[in-house]
Amino acid sequence: MAIHVVCDLENIEPWVRALKNVDNPVEVLTIDNVKDKSSVEFVLAWTYPHGMFEEYPNLKTISSMGAGVDHLMSDPRLPPEVSVVRIVDPLLSQDIYEFALSVIMSRLRRLSFFRDMQRQKIWKRKRYRRISDVSIGIMGTGVIGNHIATQLHNTGFRVAGWSRTPGSSAPYRKYHGKSQIDRFLVETNILICLLPLTPETENILNKENLEKLPEGSWLINIGRGGHLVENDLLELLDSGHLDGANLDVFREEPLPASHPFWDHPKIEITPHMASLPLPASVAPQIVDNYHRTLNNKPLLNIVDRTRGY
Ligand code: GLV
Repeated sequence: MAIHVVCDLENIEPWVRALKNVDNPVEVLTIDNVKDKSSVEFVLAWTYPHGMFEEYPNLKTISSMGAGVDHLMSDPRLPPEVSVVRIVDPLLSQDIYEFALSVIMSRLRRLSFFRDMQRQKIWKRKRYRRISDVSIGIMGTGVIGNHIATQLHNTGFRVAGWSRTPGSSAPYRKYHGKSQIDRFLVETNILICLLPLTPETENILNKENLEKLPEGSWLINIGRGGHLVENDLLELLDSGHLDGANLDVFREEPLPASHPFWDHPKIEITPHMASLPLPASVAPQIVDNYHRTLNNKPLLNIVDRTRGY
């Protein structure tokens, strides 16, 4: 019995070490070294070729290496009887909050403008905006979105959240469903997308929705590239309706060198790293789910495969 890993990381050693540190007798193998595919019951996966899990007749559980599971849910040949679990980690949520806060503060204080001025040795002042000047709208108030919305609210921002269903009460204003999305968007100056990618949310960052944001708003996409209609964003940035976008996720990753986003003066790019799971922090829940799988016990952080997250 072993935890089998399939991903595109160059070095999985930190993961192997962290998993073994939790529970020494646990064996960790990369899936391509497996001789007998029928011996595989538990897989830890990030990117992998769609359809590959059909070849493992006794596979019971796939654990995503991250919070997102769209890489698994979009596999049309993922065996229906396999359970999918994801990572839920307070450190991951806190990392995303710290990333969002850095991006927001950098934009409010116009730090990239001053960096440009420094390169040209120009001493030029420019008015900045304050925390109290902007309203933040968070699309997706699950575990991560709720943490970020609450922290930003506690930092002094005006915050609203929008999600598919009403959910539980929160210290920030909440909207839900299609009927309330317009009210949510019209009062948002900084839109942060943290939605899971599902057929329902794909392309949700489109012209029709982004146009409802007040003029001069910004977009921060930390969800998935599939949420964004790229040409609609370019059109709204170029027309001046939107003032900027911070994009951490893309339809194609790595973002191809020829992509117009790289050179766009209003777009700031980070390479899908708003949060990177820390193996030592997430290993205990993976090992726990591994033992639960072997002992036929209920799994932690299980994904609803019909809902898609
Ligand atoms: C990162 O994008 C994750 O899903 O954890």
